[in-house]
Amino acid sequence: MIRKLILAAAENSIQHRDSPENNSNTKFEFTPENLKRAETIISNYPKGHEAAACLPLLDLAQRQNDNWLPISAMNYVAKLLGMANMRVYEVATFYTMYNRQPVGKYHVQICTTTPCMLGGVGSDVIMETIQKKLKIKPGETTPDNMFTLSEVECLGACVNAPMIQVNDDYYEDLTVEDTNKVFDDLIAGRKPKPGPMSGQNHRFSCEPKGGLTSLTSPPTGPGFGVRSDL
Ligand code: FES
Repeated sequence: MIRKLILAAAENSIQHRDSPENNSNTKFEFTPENLKRAETIISNYPKGHEAAACLPLLDLAQRQNDNWLPISAMNYVAKLLGMANMRVYEVATFYTMYNRQPVGKYHVQICTTTPCMLGGVGSDVIMETIQKKLKIKPGETTPDNMFTLSEVECLGACVNAPMIQVNDDYYEDLTVEDTNKVFDDLIAGRKPKPGPMSGQNHRFSCEPKGGLTSLTSPPTGPGFGVRSDL
């Protein structure tokens, strides 16, 4: 049974299976605007190193395609950059930011790495809250196609743990109440204010909750008072 579950999880996360909406013949090409963007991105890199544009081009392709990346889009990017298809698959399967299956209108990514697991109420509690609210488990999409839930590793906001990412926005310093409010707003068609939630007084970025304890006056600038003869 456990082996079966591990194999099923591996299939979901790594292997591609052709489906009617996701196969090598699914039509994909950049819109004229995105093709221009792609050319600008490629021009940032020296000749012969076009493969360095692989990540931003895959991201561009995903944004053009309702936030998911069919295999035909990977093949298209590979061709554009003169790369072997396999090299692009290696990139797309490594990073959780690339969705290789369709996702809901809101892609909810919950970080469960150690600082988020231990910070504040902890990601276990936030995970339970989201699962109760949306009635789905990680890897699943709600029947109305509104939310897809993914469990991911560190999203780089550890100092404001626990946190989730919804599409491009981060919601941090989460409590059960704040998490429920984020989803109540989204369900009602409102956009919750991204950033640290921190109760009534949302802190700015990762500043201390109780106000600044250092750097409390404007900086004087480099070299101030060091040499008067310069
Ligand atoms: S551990 Fe969660 S954002 Fe880094």
